[in-house]
Parts: sequence; structure tokens; C-alpha cells
Amino acid sequence: MTEPAITPPPGCPAHANAAPLYGPRFQTDPGQLYQELRETHGPVAPVELAGGVPAWLVIGYRELQLVTSQPKVFGRDSTRWNMWSRIPADWPLKPMMEPAPSLLYVEGEEHQRRKAAVTDALAGVDPYELKKHCEEIADGLIDEFAGRGEADLVAEYAHRLPLLVLCRLFGLGEDEAPRLISSLLAMLDGGADALAAAQQLLDIMLRLVREKRERPGADVTSWLLAHEAGLSDEEVMRDMRVILIAGHQPSAYWIANAMRLMLTDERFAASLSGGRRSISQALAEALWEDTPTQIFAGRWATRDTQLGGQRIAAGDMVLLGFAGANADPTVRQENGVPAEGNRAYMSFSYGPHSCPFPAQEAAEVIAATAIEVLLDRLPDVQLAAAESALVWRPSAWVRALVALPVAFTPGHALG
Ligand code: HEM
Repeated sequence: MTEPAITPPPGCPAHANAAPLYGPRFQTDPGQLYQELRETHGPVAPVELAGGVPAWLVIGYRELQLVTSQPKVFGRDSTRWNMWSRIPADWPLKPMMEPAPSLLYVEGEEHQRRKAAVTDALAGVDPYELKKHCEEIADGLIDEFAGRGEADLVAEYAHRLPLLVLCRLFGLGEDEAPRLISSLLAMLDGGADALAAAQQLLDIMLRLVREKRERPGADVTSWLLAHEAGLSDEEVMRDMRVILIAGHQPSAYWIANAMRLMLTDERFAASLSGGRRSISQALAEALWEDTPTQIFAGRWATRDTQLGGQRIAAGDMVLLGFAGANADPTVRQENGVPAEGNRAYMSFSYGPHSCPFPAQEAAEVIAATAIEVLLDRLPDVQLAAAESALVWRPSAWVRALVALPVAFTPGHALG
């Protein structure tokens, strides 16, 4: 969309020189774009979302830490957005910021109660068990394409593995998992059946919650229900939906982006056959350079304030620019790369609403195991397209490959 449809209020500072947050440059070279934004506006840039909707994009590392660690000034509840009355019902980005009664949008003590339950339930996952699940699921997925000698690692591997793992962690039966996965993917695709799929997803979750309330097991659903926070079935169902979506998408993109790095960068070439640079280094570098969630919506100013030299009005939307902050020269070495072993990336956010720590640990086990098993099973795997032919999704919000075609010597299924 290029034509602004919404005119921000007169005098709205976000309107002056606002940079469009859409268009092909986010697909081709977001790094260059962030550098230009920083040179023109500094650490906080006025931006315009599709449809001409104004917002602030925080791309300074320090400023992003400030925003995420001050929930009383930059709140999570999007009902305070000063643009709602101007947003058309069919605005494509509406689902991304529309308030919902889940962990994501609650604040203060209510957020602490819900976050504690989610954090403790995820902390109950045994990392060794998790790794074992991941290995089994990875082997099963590879079995499906091993004999073919070629595959698309995005559609056939990276996008399926984290979802299957999450279904197991939830204690979802083998017969329900495929239904849950197809409804989630249909909902995220946003096609004609998206609304029906969203309802189906909630139905599956609610059935699971009721079943686990009656017959608890050793799974995240049962641990959420038993938590001292005393969550209702509805609250557990809503927060599991958050865990599912927040867990699936970035983990899938992370696996694919790290695999792309290993398949295209000769520093990693030797490790494909068990050599120098490790998988965990590729995973860390992928977070610094191609973090899955580039921009996240967001926070909403609770009062007039200043940030990075800009005047933010009460109710303004503040977007968290994780990719921009990771590229901030103040946290990079002189040659532009982060010091080896430096894990201070903003990719999991910061402050009380950041990605729960056990979720970060689980994501790392899932991503590392996915790559490990793939390299173990297909040791001569290589890119089946020119690096320049790889296409990124046309989105300012995520850094996600459309496909990652690979070729390898056909092998046998393990069964
Ligand atoms: C097993 C995988 C994962 C699970 C279960 C998970 C779960 C969650 C949950 C429940 C939240 C909401 C926290 C809250 O509102 O208090 C969240 C937030 C978030 N997660 Fe994760 N996550 C996973 C993987 C990832 C990965 C791989 C990334 C990126 C590399 C990521 C980045 C984020 C970010 C940026 C937020 C937003 C935080 C904010 O509002 O400041 N997550 N995640």
C-alpha cells in the first residue's frame, strides 16, 4: 500500500518526514534502511504504517532498553492508542495490535500473575526430554524428504518442527496435533478461511484445557492449570494460544535464518561436515543480523514524554525495533560485528514483558537440535539456488525466508 489513507491529527510530530514501514526495502536490505533512519532521525524515528498510520520506531539500543523497562510510561495495553477512532475495521494490521484478554496485553500485577504461571509451567519442561522430542520429530520430518535428494527447508522442516514440539509439550494427542497445526497455519495465512480457522484453534485449545483439568498429566497445560496463580480455563486457553503463536513463528524463522547463514557463509562451511564454527555461533549470529522479529507492536505511551530527542504524546504507538537496536553502532565493534560470544542482542526483548527465560532456553534447544539432526542426517546438504535468489517475505515485521531450497545425496528413512 503506498497511498496514505489516514491523515494524522494536525501537528502530529510523527507525520513530519515519517518513513514508510512497508515497501521492498525491508525485503532487500533492512540493515541499510535502519542506518539511513538513524542518520536522519536518531534513535527514535517517526514512521508511517500501511494506510498512512503514524507511529514511532525505536532503533536505539539504549532507548529500546528504556522503553521496555518502563512499563508505567510505555504500557502494553493497546486500548490507550490515540488512533483507534481513525482505524478502519478492515485495516490489515489490526489483528496485530487489537487488545485481547491474554497475557500479552495485561499490565502490572495482573501481568505478573499470568507471566509467573507461564514462566513456571515452561520451566517445568526437562531440557533433556525436550531434546529427545526434538530429535524424534526432526527425524520424522527428514524421513519424509530424505529419499528425494531435495527439499524446501522452510516449508518442510523449519515451519513444522517447532509446532510439533509445542503440541507435545502441551500434551496434545497425536490425532489432535495435525488439526491444531492446520488451523493455526490457516489463521496466520490470513486467507478466506482465517476466521473459521481461528475459531477452530480456540475450540481445540479449550477441549484440551477441559480434558487436562479432569485428567492432568506431565505437560505444560496441566502445570498452567495447577499453578498457584489460579488461572481460569479461559485464561489458560488464551495464554496457551500466546505461547503457541509466540513460540512457533520466531523459532521457525530462527532455524531457517541460521541454516541459511550456515549454507551461504564460508566461515560456517566446514561445520556442515563437523568443523570449525559451531551451530550455537550460527544461531547467535542469526539473532544479531537477521533477528526473526524485526519490529514488534508494541508499547503505548501512558503520558506525554520524551524519548531519543522526540516528543511522544500520550497514547502514541511505540514500535520495538529489535533489528534496528541490534544494529546500533554503540553495541557493535569497530568492524561492525558483535564480539564473539556476545549475547546481548535485543531479539527476545527486555524488561517485564520480554520473552520468558525458559521459553528462550526451550527455543534454543529446539533450534539447535533441528540443525544438528539435519546436518547429521544429510551431511552433504547444500543450497539448491543462488544465494541472491533467496527471497525474504515482504514484511517490515519479520525477517523470514519464503523458501530455503536444498539438495543432498538421497538417503533412507529411519522409519
Ligand atoms: C519455544 C519458543 C518460544 C516460546 C514458548 C515463547 C513464548 C513467549 C511468550 C509467552 C511471550 C509473551 C511474554 C509476555 O507478554 O510477558 C513472548 C514474547 C516474546 N518473545 Fe518469545 N517465545 C519463544 C521463542 C521466541 C524466539 C525464538 C524469539 C526471537 C528470537 C522470541 C521473541 C519474543 C519477543 C520479541 C517477545 C515480545 C516481548 C515484548 O513484548 O517485549 N520468542 N514469547
